[in-house]
Amino acid sequence: MREVAGALLAWYDRHARVLPWRVPPGGSGADPYRVWLSEIMLQQTTVAAVRAYFERFTTLWPTVEALAAADDTQVMAEWAGLGYYARARNLLACARTVAAAGGFPDTRAGLQALPGVGPYTSAAIAAIAYGLPETVVDGNVERVVARLFAVETPLPAAKPELVALAGRLTPAERAGDFAQAMMDLGATICTPRKPACALCPLDDLCAARARGIAADLPRKAAKSPKPQRTGIAWVAINDHAILLERRAPKGLLGGTLAFPSTGWDGSDHDVPLQADWQQLQPVQHVFTHFALNLQVRVAHACGNPTRGFWMPRAGFSPSDLPGLMRKVWDRAC
Ligand code: ADE
Repeated sequence: MREVAGALLAWYDRHARVLPWRVPPGGSGADPYRVWLSEIMLQQTTVAAVRAYFERFTTLWPTVEALAAADDTQVMAEWAGLGYYARARNLLACARTVAAAGGFPDTRAGLQALPGVGPYTSAAIAAIAYGLPETVVDGNVERVVARLFAVETPLPAAKPELVALAGRLTPAERAGDFAQAMMDLGATICTPRKPACALCPLDDLCAARARGIAADLPRKAAKSPKPQRTGIAWVAINDHAILLERRAPKGLLGGTLAFPSTGWDGSDHDVPLQADWQQLQPVQHVFTHFALNLQVRVAHACGNPTRGFWMPRAGFSPSDLPGLMRKVWDRAC
């Protein structure tokens, strides 16, 4: 086990990716605020997608106190495009809790009591910011561990076994570097489809490699297809303004700016305005629990809507919209 950690850390010392929230290998004193922010952003999103958002957030709000004092609407607008808007709401709730307490807790249990911080994020902050010997297990780490030990049990049933095995690998020293080394290995060498085993620092320690089954692991239980839902989005525009609404704070895309729409989240609404609606090609969007086919109707219109508000064109930027609504706008304009 120690052999794995030693070989991996030696590789990380030479090949660690340079990322804006990291300190160099062997370094200490990573800022818990930056580690926390990056880990929340990186949940279910790639490093490439997160970089620019991270730079922007930390420029606008360099400390957790600054973020805690931020305007909710501005934070939601800056988050637009990262998806999973409940995370942005929890981000603000967490920043305010931490600022009120005078700083981040310095134990995993304390971290996990914060809004939006689950077992993964608490372990990541504890290891990366504080050097505590916590084991961090994300999808990359699951794949690396499944291959190292040739675990053939399919995911998700294999999870507890993979967490236990990853725990046995985690060294007492440099646990943060070790966690990030596992992530880098999974992202750059031990990749899902065609692992570059010839370049891998753990090549001769890997049971799946020895058996020639690295690319087949981890096995995955067959997924049931996502349920399909349908709905309608109405895009009313005129020379001066665009009809938008702010979605309810809770629920799908909660708190985000949106075109009035119907149906797809289980609620039902009438057309927001009587107009000569033209039907365009629908947009497709995949959420965590369902796939959406959203019809797009567009009209040149003015007058009093039953819901939403007229946003002056000068105040409207499509980048303030979440991904789904940006697709709707791209279709309509
Ligand atoms: N994915 C999630 N957290 C990460 C980190 N700290 N470094 C690289 N990739 C990550």
